[in-house]
Amino acid sequence: MSNQSFILHCRLVIDDALILSHGKYKNEISIAAWLHDLERIKSGEDHVKYSLVFADEFLKETKLSAKSKIIILDCIKNHGSSGKPETIIGIYFQAADKLSMFHEQVLLEHAFRFAKESNSVQELAQKLDDKYNKSLIKLKHVKCRKAIVIAKKRIETLRKIYSTWSNINNINIV
Ligand SMILES: [Fe+2]
Repeated sequence: MSNQSFILHCRLVIDDALILSHGKYKNEISIAAWLHDLERIKSGEDHVKYSLVFADEFLKETKLSAKSKIIILDCIKNHGSSGKPETIIGIYFQAADKLSMFHEQVLLEHAFRFAKESNSVQELAQKLDDKYNKSLIKLKHVKCRKAIVIAKKRIETLRKIYSTWSNINNINIV
């Protein structure tokens, strides 16, 4: 994950978690978002474990309430697909981590990556469809129906964007 992708992902997770929480627990969500994948750049698959250790040390230095610390650690510990959040904000955060996939900025990142291995725009569109279907299945494991409704609407919008790409050849450049 590049630094740019990391920053974008964290911002999108904050935005989506706040949509789900109706703007509540903004501090906890923001801190959790910036910390949850911090160790991913260094530690790869074990990033949850290392991010949790880092977050625990970081939180000891803050004056946040015990409740806020519990929420932040729950968000970080359980944001992965196999996580089982123990707080409602933890559930929203886990859903937001998956929802962050369904954004136009992220679509372009995937499209650039898939374009290198695709022979046609149709093949690229198929790869994007597959990616979104897999992400939707992951999201369905999170117990947040609202997030699924949001994701389905966003997939429709994103499909409209990349379905127009196959018509690019028909555009006359004057
Ligand atoms: Fe994440």
